[in-house]
Amino acid sequence: MEKPVIAIDGPAGAGKSTVARALANYLNLRYLDTGAMYRAFALRLHRLEQLEAEDLVAAFGEARISFGTGTPPPVFLDVEDVSEAIRMPEIGELASRLSAIREVRVLLLRQQQEIVADGGVVLEGRDATTVIAPNANLKIYMTASLEERARRRSREFSAKGLEEDFRDVRSQIEQRDHRDINRQDSPLTVAPDAEIIETGGKSIDAVINEIVELLHQRAGGHGRTDV
Ligand code: DC
Repeated sequence: MEKPVIAIDGPAGAGKSTVARALANYLNLRYLDTGAMYRAFALRLHRLEQLEAEDLVAAFGEARISFGTGTPPPVFLDVEDVSEAIRMPEIGELASRLSAIREVRVLLLRQQQEIVADGGVVLEGRDATTVIAPNANLKIYMTASLEERARRRSREFSAKGLEEDFRDVRSQIEQRDHRDINRQDSPLTVAPDAEIIETGGKSIDAVINEIVELLHQRAGGHGRTDV
């Protein structure tokens, strides 16, 4: 498998970004955080105060979302590095709401598929395994209990100096799950050929080992060092 595509989906806080990033690094593949693209879109519209606009895609205008190089790759909105700004809780919330709009998905899907077309990438999101890369070499559905995911998100916010109430974080995640799972267009779902990985209580390394092992099985190889 020369330039494998590994697609990872799962609910908020399941550990997808941390694992996908480390996995891409370990396997020397590119990393695509598709949620960051929805977040950048949300940030732009948030700043424009254009949320009532009928045509959100037109309101988004000519703005361009791109990724720089680095670990993790910085996210650019035009020439501005928005890597930090898109992590604000209200932007995540808005991204989830915008992501239910078909026109928004069509616009971002095109860009995501262009990035994935050359192979050699670990991508993660909500429809990575089902819509963006249905032919991925390996599909993973990563999950953990609501409590565990809320604890992780709270720790991430604290590390950034954002003191969010745990119950608020948990209920935001719950609402987000509900919206992401129940939307009409490309909802979060387990692809029939996806491997389900429960990340609760596991270290990042343990999860990466599991994925590398699965990749070997798909490629017909044995052991972690052959990748
Ligand atoms: O993974 P994240 O929290 O950064 O994603 C933010 C929101 O973007 C998420 O709640 C739903 C949406 N999203 C999506 O609909 N499809 C994707 N492939 C990735 C994210």
